[in-house]
Amino acid sequence: MKLFFSLLGSLFFSLLVTAQTTPDATMKLFIDGLMRKMTLEEKLGQLNLPGSGDIVTGQAQSSDIAAKIRAGKVGGLFNIKSVAKIHDVQRIAVEQSRLKIPLLFGMDVIHGYETVFPIPLGLSCTWNMPLIERTARIAAIEASADGINWTFSPMVDIARDARWGRIAEGSGEDPFLGSMVAKAMVRGYQGDLTSANQILSCVKHYALYGAAESGRDYHTVDMSRQRMYNDYFPPYKAAVDAGAASVMASFNEVEGIPATGNRWLLTNVLRKQWGFKGFIVTDYTGINEMIDHGVGNLQHVSAMALRAGIDMDMVGEGLLTTIPQSLKEGKITQAEIDAACRRILEAKYKLGLFNNPYRYGSADRVQKEVFSSAHRSEARAIAAESFVLLRNAPMGIEKKQTVLPLQQKGTIALVGPLANNKKNMPGTWSVAANLDNAVSLYAGLKEVVGNKANILIARGANLDYDSLFEERAGMFGRSLHRDSRPAEVMIAEALEIAKQADVIVAALGESAEMSGESSSRADIGIPKAQQDLLKALVTTGKPIVLVLFTGRPLTLTWEHANIPAILNVWFAGSEAGYAIADVLFGEVNPSGKLTTSFPQHVGQVPLFYGQKNTGRPLNSPWFSKFRSNYLDVSNNPLYPFGYGLSYTTFNYGELQLSKKSLQSADTLFASVTVTNTGDRYGKETVQLYIRDLVGSVTRPVKELKGFEKIALRAGESKVVTFPITIEDLKFYNYELKHTWESGEFEIMIGANSADLKKGVVNWNK
Ligand code: BGC
Repeated sequence: MKLFFSLLGSLFFSLLVTAQTTPDATMKLFIDGLMRKMTLEEKLGQLNLPGSGDIVTGQAQSSDIAAKIRAGKVGGLFNIKSVAKIHDVQRIAVEQSRLKIPLLFGMDVIHGYETVFPIPLGLSCTWNMPLIERTARIAAIEASADGINWTFSPMVDIARDARWGRIAEGSGEDPFLGSMVAKAMVRGYQGDLTSANQILSCVKHYALYGAAESGRDYHTVDMSRQRMYNDYFPPYKAAVDAGAASVMASFNEVEGIPATGNRWLLTNVLRKQWGFKGFIVTDYTGINEMIDHGVGNLQHVSAMALRAGIDMDMVGEGLLTTIPQSLKEGKITQAEIDAACRRILEAKYKLGLFNNPYRYGSADRVQKEVFSSAHRSEARAIAAESFVLLRNAPMGIEKKQTVLPLQQKGTIALVGPLANNKKNMPGTWSVAANLDNAVSLYAGLKEVVGNKANILIARGANLDYDSLFEERAGMFGRSLHRDSRPAEVMIAEALEIAKQADVIVAALGESAEMSGESSSRADIGIPKAQQDLLKALVTTGKPIVLVLFTGRPLTLTWEHANIPAILNVWFAGSEAGYAIADVLFGEVNPSGKLTTSFPQHVGQVPLFYGQKNTGRPLNSPWFSKFRSNYLDVSNNPLYPFGYGLSYTTFNYGELQLSKKSLQSADTLFASVTVTNTGDRYGKETVQLYIRDLVGSVTRPVKELKGFEKIALRAGESKVVTFPITIEDLKFYNYELKHTWESGEFEIMIGANSADLKKGVVNWNK
C-alpha cells in the first residue's frame, strides 16, 4: 500500500512537472507572476495602443507618448518606422517604466513593406496561393528587420460594391477564394512564430465592413445571419483557423450594434464558436466612434467594448481613461480587465519580447534584407502575374494579329497622367515604402526595350478636370501635380506624338488614392478628362493599348467597344513599371483572372456572380417583362468573376463526372481536359463551381469550390480533376448549422464564372 502511494505520488509529481514545463504552462506562470505585480493603471496601460504620429493613417492625435510609456500607460505603438526609433522607444519601456514590460510595434504592412507588391485586390487575381503567401513572408522579413512585430493585415472583407474604395485592400467578392488568401497571408506573416522574422498578423475588419450601404466608407451594414455565415464570415474564420494572432474590429455596426461593442460578434461567434485565442484590437478610435454611432458616452461605450471582448484600444484611450470609474461602479469586473491584459501579455510573450525586447529590428538586417534586389525581382514577377488582360482584339483586315504583345521596334507613343509617375505605382496602403524608389511605366518600358524602339511621351490629360477632386485623389504625397495647360493643348500634344507612332500606350485610370480608405466613388468610370483624351486618340486610327491603373472595378463599356487592347494592372507595387513592360512586350504572358465582377454600369452594383436565382429569374439574354432585370442594361457584368485573357488560347473539353449518383461518403471526381491551342506557353486558372439546385433555404446560382492554376506549353493538354466530397456541399442553413442536404447538384468547370461546362449529379444521405 505504501509503495502504491509512493508510486502514485511520484506519478503525480512528474505529471505536475510536465504540466508546468509545457510552453503554455510556463507562459501562464510567468504572466500570473507579472500580473500580480501590476496596478489597475498598468493593466489598462497594456490595453492602450496610441499612434506614433510617424505615419498618419487617421485623424492626428497629439500626446506625450514617452511620458505615458514611462508611466506604464502604453501597451504598444503603431506606425512608427525605423529600427533606431523603435529601439529608442522600446528602451523607454524596458528601462524607464516600473515593470519594464516591452511594447508591441504594429504597422499597416498591407501589401509589402519597402518592397511593395500589388494591392491585395490585384494579388488575389494571381489565384496563386504560394505566391501570395510569399508576399506576406517577404513583408514580414522586411518589417521585422525594421523592428515591426505586428501587422494590421490581412484585410479579408468580402466586397461586392465597386464604389467602396477599400475593395482595393481585399481579395474581391468570393468567400472561398477569400478564405484561401486569408490563410496564405496568415501563414506568410506568422509561420510558427518562432523566428525573429515572423510577425503577428491581424485579421480585419471584423466584421462585414465590405458591405457598407451604398458603397460609402464606414456606412451602416445590415444583413441576414445566413449571408454573414455563408458569404462574409468565411475568410475571417479561415484566418482564425490558420492561427491568426489578432483580430481588428470593424468601424461599422452589425445588427444595430457597432462591431467594437458587439458581444455576440466578438465573443459568441469569434471566441466561442470559432475558438479564437488571440487578442482583439479596435480600429482607429473605434471605441470613441461609438459615441457618434449613438450608443452612449465615452465611459459607457468603453465598458461596452471591453465587455464585448475588445482587448486593445487603438488611439482613442477610452479604456485607459474611463475603465477605473466603470470598475468602481460595477459596470465592468476585474476579471474582464485581467483577461484582456493577459491576452496582450501573451502576445508579447509569444513574440519572445520578454526574453529580448530588441529581438525585432537590426540595422544589419535592414541593410541586407529591406528592399533587397532579390525581393525586388520577386516583386516584379509577382506583379506581372497579377495583371488581367481584359481585351486583346484581332486587328487589321485579316484579323489575325492582336495588338498585344507589342513588338520591340518602331515608335511607341506613351500618353496619360500615369505614364511617367513613380509615386502612384505602389498603390494605396504602402505606408512603409519610399515612393521615389518605385518604377514608373515610362522607366519600365525604356529599361525593357532599350534602344530597340523609340518611345515618345506626352501627358495628354490631368487626372480629371476638377482640381479639387484631383487634390483629394493625390493625398499622402501622391499628387500627380496638375498641368496648368488647357486640356485641348495637352490633347493636341498627345495627338502629335500619336501620329508619329506605330502604337499608342495610354496609361489611364485612377490615381493610387482614388481607392483605399475613405475613397468611395459614385461614378466608377475613368475620369472624364482622361476619357476625352482616349476618345481623341481613337480618332488617329492607330492601335491603342489601354494600360489601366485602378484599385476597383471600373465601368469600361465604352472602352471595351472602342479600344482593342486593355491590360488591367491595378497598382502593382514598387516594380510596377518593369512588370508592366514585361507583359506588354510578351516577356511574360498574362495569367491574372478577376476576383471581382466588372459592372457595365454603376447602377448594377452590388454585382457578384454568386447571386440568388429569385422567383423571377431572367431566362433570356436581356429584357423580359416581369422578370428580374433592368430596362436599360442587361444583368451581365462587362467582365465576369474569374475572367482574364492570355496571349495564348485554351480550349476546355467536355466535363467528365466519375458518377452521377452518390452517397454521403463518396467522392465525385469532376474533370476536364484543357488544351493550350495557341502558339505560346501560358498559365490558366481552371475553376470549379457548384450549385445546390434545391435547398431548405435558397442557394446561390453558383459557388466557387475549387481552382487549379496550370501551366501548358503550346499544344499541350492536361486533365484537371477536382475531387468533390460532401464537405464541398455544406452551407449554413436557417438554423446556422453547417450541413448539406440530399438532392441534385450542378457541377461546373470552366475558364471563368460565366463560361462553364456543366453536368448534374444526385447526392443522397
Ligand atoms: C483603418 C485600418 C488600419 C488603421 C491603422 C484605420 O483607419 O481602417 O485598416 O489598420 O487605421 O492605421
